[in-house]
Amino acid sequence: MKIAVIGMGYVGLTTAASMAHIGHEIFGVEIDEAKLNLLKEGKSPIYEEYLDGMLSHGIEAGRLHFTSDLAEALDETEVAFIAVGTPLMGQWGADLRQIRAAVGDIAHFLKENPDKHLIVIMKSTVPSRTCDTMADHIREIAPDAKFDLVSNPEFLREGSGVFDTLYPDRIVIGSRSTEASNKVKGLYQAIIDGKIPDTHLCPKPPEKHPYPIPVVQTDPRSSELIKYAANAFLATKISFINEIANLAEKTGANIEDIAYGIGLDQRIGPQFLRAGIGYGGSCFPKDTAALTHQAESFGYTFKLLNAVIEVNQRQRIRFLHKIVERLDHFDGRRIGFLGLSFKPGTDDVRDSPGIEMMRYAEGAGAEVRAYDPVAIENARKIFDCLDKEIYFEDPLKMAEGCDCLAIVTDWPEFRDLDWLKIKKLMKHPIIFDGRNMFDPSEMKGKGFEYYCVGRGEDACYNSE
Ligand code: UGA
Repeated sequence: MKIAVIGMGYVGLTTAASMAHIGHEIFGVEIDEAKLNLLKEGKSPIYEEYLDGMLSHGIEAGRLHFTSDLAEALDETEVAFIAVGTPLMGQWGADLRQIRAAVGDIAHFLKENPDKHLIVIMKSTVPSRTCDTMADHIREIAPDAKFDLVSNPEFLREGSGVFDTLYPDRIVIGSRSTEASNKVKGLYQAIIDGKIPDTHLCPKPPEKHPYPIPVVQTDPRSSELIKYAANAFLATKISFINEIANLAEKTGANIEDIAYGIGLDQRIGPQFLRAGIGYGGSCFPKDTAALTHQAESFGYTFKLLNAVIEVNQRQRIRFLHKIVERLDHFDGRRIGFLGLSFKPGTDDVRDSPGIEMMRYAEGAGAEVRAYDPVAIENARKIFDCLDKEIYFEDPLKMAEGCDCLAIVTDWPEFRDLDWLKIKKLMKHPIIFDGRNMFDPSEMKGKGFEYYCVGRGEDACYNSE
């Protein structure tokens, strides 16, 4: 089928590449000229495994086209995914201006093309009721427009976006029209049946995957809320395990064993129980806040989620306290940060806990420096020092003369660093591991003073 995808961000681009991969013809719409030029050359503007290969293959096969002209894309297609951003707008919750603009453009197109029927699919994360409001917006502009507006939220994780799109746990479709809902389901048939072609170009399927993939067909308001509820629940798991980790530090227990011990209970499950400095990124912080704001706007205080957000923020502060308690003060201390992206496998630095901490430490007088395998360029755009270089391409150079290192992103390659050499280069061999990457006894064996999160005496400190 011919499909337009509006917005070539993480979600839009991964959707476009994956849909082209399973045989659809895609017209990706992007207004940013620099991004568009890269895409036309088959290059991904974001760091995401497999995308480059899938893009160039899709273009060569004639299944992927990119344009800045929405009308040109809609002219060709029967279906349009909206995948533009919904950032947070302070206390007002999700900022739907990009959604409204895209929907308005679609409406004007439909007004000029009264015979055209379009299925508009809301891929962007939007508050419950948005599809209803946006359908009204289309009708205001084009009262006779023929369209269905279907909610179809995305559950992909950055860093494994292609894998999550091709091998999802479920597909959620929200529509009041059974016909439209089934049409959207049909777009995913190859994914539902596990018939993914050319698996040398994309990730291999997981060993055990339940085919057919479950499809949840519901109304748009529920579908929209499923997305927010999923992210809120995962964020809750993280804050919960961080609270237990903080308690474990006090009692001298080990959070790794606790997470393993509770995760074996199938009702709890082992995932999202990694304690550390809390969640960041472009999704959990934004979506948890947007959900509490929406609840508040309906006169309901979402107490649990408010606490989840507070615990997450406190986790970053606790980690900084740990550092300052050991170093006495930040002023004049050289602190090296390992990691800049909000998690490994991505160059995304939006709401990265590490960058927030680095900014704070620098503000308190520390000489901060950092290394990340892929995110330096993006980090520089949001945090830099005019008078000195803080970003290093070589982690060993970065470690030179440091009073301590703070591990803030769990890039697997950090495990393979030459830690004995790093120890020699540092002024004081002190490590604060915000992601519990290492075995404490191993690091102590290498001669480091090693602090982590929630692992008994290794993590003990007395400030709050
Ligand atoms: C998240 C969800 O996992 C996706 O399902 C969802 O589609 C996406 O948001 C979205 O709404 O677009 P993502 O933000 O890419 O995906 O990253 P996650 O892998 O979920 O990690 C989020 C943060 O939680 C990271 O900072 C990570 O380090 C942290 N985390 C994760 C923990 O601190 N502990 C854990 O056990 C797991």
